[in-house]
Amino acid sequence: MNKELERIKLNAMAAVREALTEADIDRISVSVLGRSGSLTEILRGMSRLDKDERAKAGQQANEVKKELETALTERKKELSDAFLRQRLKNESIDVTEPGRRLLPRGRLHPMTQVYRQIRDALIGMGFTMFNGPEVELDDFNFTKLNVPPDHPARDMQDTFYVSDSVVLRTHTSPCEARALLELSPPFRLVIPGRVFRVDEVDATHSPVFMQMEGFAVDRNITLANLKGTIDVFVKAVFGKGVKSRLRPSYFPFTEPSGEVDISCTICGGSGCGVCKGTGWIEIMGCGITNPHELENCGYDPKEWSALAFGLGVDRIAGLKYGIPDVRLLYENDARFLEQF
Ligand code: DAH
Repeated sequence: MNKELERIKLNAMAAVREALTEADIDRISVSVLGRSGSLTEILRGMSRLDKDERAKAGQQANEVKKELETALTERKKELSDAFLRQRLKNESIDVTEPGRRLLPRGRLHPMTQVYRQIRDALIGMGFTMFNGPEVELDDFNFTKLNVPPDHPARDMQDTFYVSDSVVLRTHTSPCEARALLELSPPFRLVIPGRVFRVDEVDATHSPVFMQMEGFAVDRNITLANLKGTIDVFVKAVFGKGVKSRLRPSYFPFTEPSGEVDISCTICGGSGCGVCKGTGWIEIMGCGITNPHELENCGYDPKEWSALAFGLGVDRIAGLKYGIPDVRLLYENDARFLEQF
């Protein structure tokens, strides 16, 4: 009897130590302490013993039973704690982990950004949008703008001819003539659009690029109006610290004509490689509209006057963001565009 009890106890204890789950513990419990469990059988068999033996064996069996019950309960608690710890670990959330980007976020092309900054600055000064065709009459692209057929200024811009009288517009300036014919002054216009020139593609040239024209027609327009208008959008695009200046130049459609320089965005004006030591960078052409252009479009230049300017959006974007090659702006490589 003693031996049998001892054996049951050792076996059960070993099984408890090896148990890996709470279900294992339950199975051991049933096989030893259950209704037909090994220890229960022994307790039942005791009725056959005589009185003295029964008392002694009963006491031993009860001790074993208690011991086993304690071991089972403790091990079960241990396993359930470990299981809970593991589960908490598996399901824990690292709140410091950076979020996952589910959808890549789009952004505006640097040229679009710069275009909108200029446009919005001009709209803030009462300008409105005006558009014209990319395939344009030679007459609007050149002749009305005081560039007659044999004028040498036609060589300033190498032109794609569609026919003798039709071209791909070489600038947005033909819209000045269109506006003069279509609208009644006073008016102030922002004219954006694609323009075309016979050019090989390189770091500073593209046969297709984007220009913006500003054109304001009114009575008594002066160079001061021109200078002030330009300074407002230069500061809107490049920041308040950037200065602008007008330098005399020549365009057939303006008199006087000027080029606009801004203080160098790289060195701030002290002179560097980008501004070739001058402290200034040329950004666009401008002027007071030539009286011939007004006359060509049916206006009396003694009554009406106009200011005009035209810029390349790619050049402005290139300067603003330090882009060394215009091709980057047209190739639309996402790795490049992502940076803006
Ligand atoms: N159309 C000129 C160009 O493409 C730029 C320009 C210069 C426009 C002076 C103007 C202006 O309106 O007044 O080079």
